[in-house]
Amino acid sequence: MMQSLTANGYPILFSEKAYDFLNTFIEENSYSTIFILTDTNTNEYCISRFLPFLATEKTIEIIEIEPGESEKNITTCVEIWSALTELGGDRKSLLINIGGGVITDIGGFVASTFKRGIDFIHIPTTLLAMVDASIGGKNGVDLGNLKNQIGVINVPKMVLIDTNYLATLPKNEMRSGLAEMLKHGLIADAEYWSRFKELSNQDYADFDELIHRSIEIKNEIVMQDPTENGIRKALNFGHTLGHAIESYFLENENKKTLLHGEAIAAGMILESYISWQKKLLSAVEYLEIKNAINAVFETIIFEENDLLPIIDLLIHDKKNEYGKIQFALLEGIGNIKINQEVENELVIKSFTDYKS
Ligand SMILES: NC(=O)c1ccc[n+]([C@@H]2O[C@H](COP(=O)([O-])OP(=O)(O)OC[C@H]3O[C@@H](n4cnc5c(N)ncnc54)[C@H](O)[C@@H]3O)[C@@H](O)[C@H]2O)c1
Repeated sequence: MMQSLTANGYPILFSEKAYDFLNTFIEENSYSTIFILTDTNTNEYCISRFLPFLATEKTIEIIEIEPGESEKNITTCVEIWSALTELGGDRKSLLINIGGGVITDIGGFVASTFKRGIDFIHIPTTLLAMVDASIGGKNGVDLGNLKNQIGVINVPKMVLIDTNYLATLPKNEMRSGLAEMLKHGLIADAEYWSRFKELSNQDYADFDELIHRSIEIKNEIVMQDPTENGIRKALNFGHTLGHAIESYFLENENKKTLLHGEAIAAGMILESYISWQKKLLSAVEYLEIKNAINAVFETIIFEENDLLPIIDLLIHDKKNEYGKIQFALLEGIGNIKINQEVENELVIKSFTDYKS
């Protein structure tokens, strides 16, 4: 039985027991209508599991959007705000977001801004959304190809983790979430990281427990610094370059679109190399990380002329302050050093090493 966690003003609940808590919560709060936001996949695979648990007399309305990162934009928000309005949404409506990180990010943003804010709950259905996107109160959408450029920090009323939803999740999407779990070990818990070292040889009988620990690590960091002025930046490890790579591949028609975790896996190797070059990480540790990640994630092909546009994109990273690109680098496995400036030459060297 997984212990619930307390986040900043909301609970993170595990397993089927969580649905009882949800029903009591709905009963105690006089919501006018329960809206459920899904995409076509979660409507097909997850709603049929969720609805039988929901014990309420209230009106339930399902709003469905197309799946994928390309939908995480303001146009889709307008569609959802319009649907909420047409279906009689008011300030006492509740929005339950059932889906991956796209649904929890956009659903949290739509709810936070509809009628100046209605209550919302996240039920993440991808591994990535369970261990990362649904935890910590960041909501938002992309602006063109710039990731998460528009958004708010606002917490849900609860997050409900039911790993049974993962049964229908494609393998590559599972891998995408795994990247964030590896990150949690690398930045905060060497022992946890060591459980993933032989990634390809494991069947993860205790996967629920690993998910729980990952959420605990992220939650502990967010609790210390909800608005990302300090230690929350630790979570950006692998993401400074990872986001730039993800954006570049998304905007470039000749490139295959990468899953978030695939870009982050490459970002973690590149930023581990930089950590090594900055003498924060040993060569042995760097190679351990590179080999473990390469055993699971395909190497991304970068052409010579990809690098400058990727570096250009770093400049737009919203994590930058005063125009300076800041990295969170590993200081040994399990420790992180934030606010590290890195010169462009070293970034380029990291790509050269990645290809080797
Ligand atoms: N807010 C944050 O702190 C935070 C953190 C990390 C990532 N994110 C965001 O999360 C997003 C990525 O999330 P994601 O990887 O979950 O992507 P996603 O929401 O696009 O889901 C991936 C795919 O899996 C499908 N799917 C979802 N659940 C399923 C299930 N149970 N069975 C079958 N198919 C299912 C979806 O329809 C989609 O096609 C990105 O936009 C990223 O920026 C946000």
